[in-house]
Amino acid sequence: MTKTFIPVNTPLLDGNEAEYLAECIRTGWISSEGPFIKRFEQGMAALVGRRHGVAVTNGSVALDIAVHALGLEPGSEVILPTFTIISCASAIVRAGLVPVGVDCDPATWNMTVEGVEAAITPRTRAIMLVHIYGLPVDLASILELARRHDLKVIEDAAEMHGQTYRGAPCGSFGDISTFSFYPNKHVTTGEGGMILTDDDALAERLASLRNLCFQPQQRFIHEELGWNARMTNLQAALGVAQIEHLPRTVELKRRIGRLYDEHLEDVAGIRRPVPRTNYADNIYWVYGIVLDDNVPFDAKEAMGRLAQKGIGTRPFFWCMHEQPVLRRMGFMLNESHPNAEHIARRGFYLPSGLALTEDEIARSAWALKEILP
Ligand SMILES: Cc1ncc(COP(=O)(O)O)c(C=O)c1O
Repeated sequence: MTKTFIPVNTPLLDGNEAEYLAECIRTGWISSEGPFIKRFEQGMAALVGRRHGVAVTNGSVALDIAVHALGLEPGSEVILPTFTIISCASAIVRAGLVPVGVDCDPATWNMTVEGVEAAITPRTRAIMLVHIYGLPVDLASILELARRHDLKVIEDAAEMHGQTYRGAPCGSFGDISTFSFYPNKHVTTGEGGMILTDDDALAERLASLRNLCFQPQQRFIHEELGWNARMTNLQAALGVAQIEHLPRTVELKRRIGRLYDEHLEDVAGIRRPVPRTNYADNIYWVYGIVLDDNVPFDAKEAMGRLAQKGIGTRPFFWCMHEQPVLRRMGFMLNESHPNAEHIARRGFYLPSGLALTEDEIARSAWALKEILP
């Protein structure tokens, strides 16, 4: 009997999503002018304890606008984890700044304070903190370093809806923070992102940059180049409904993590996600695993074998300092980050979507056991 394919992600839209979307259609509010935009911005801001939220079209453009808005002098260095998505580095490069990578902790896969400290030079002006795969960065001493060196902090909380660091919400740290609402996120709007800050003037600037820098008094005369990164009311309607059941979402994700852990507890040859640290419990944005060195094949081969068994997977991020496009531009050329290089080659994640059933988790774990030597 052929079993159905288990996709790597399946969102859950079973709250007020349909009702709020229908309201948009009924009322005709489908552009970025509709009332759900404010509600979603205020809802996210309240969730993470920020004064302002500015909704945009995705998490990548949220980073672009956030970095640009800081107005750092061109050529300044910005420290970021090498183990992250390209959006982080491209936001830095597009703002005329220089990305400087740091390695990750081999267990939590997050950037470390030692890495950040070693990367600081007289040209450093900012640190981009990126929380990875369900556990936050161990922030306290990095924030302290930033204070001491007078560095701006951008917090990329794209994967961290509902997560906390020592009890304070992720997305509440630094000068500016960003989220993504892609369908694999704990809160989704299909595509979408948000930029948050406590700074009133910065919030106003972010809203202007999102809206092509139209000027209130003379709309089509521009003093600065912005983006059209406006979220639609339809997307925000989804977002409002999604926030309503975020606590359940986090609980469901933790249950997925627990079930995988139980199934894979005695399996040799893999490193599983760290369930908790002394600053946070994992929210399992995805359930990632890293193949031990004694497994005679890499993540690519493992993922191919799992696909043949009907199991969807995704590779881990590929390091920024190994990106052809950045290297061709002369960035990060002399960097080497062995922990990140290792997990990029040997790490991948299993089906982790919210609609995953217990049986699908068991099947995915079983398939993994079968493909391991
Ligand atoms: C850490 C991180 N930052 C930024 C992004 C980009 O978000 P988006 O896909 O909405 O552009 C992602 C997407 O997964 C992410 O994981």
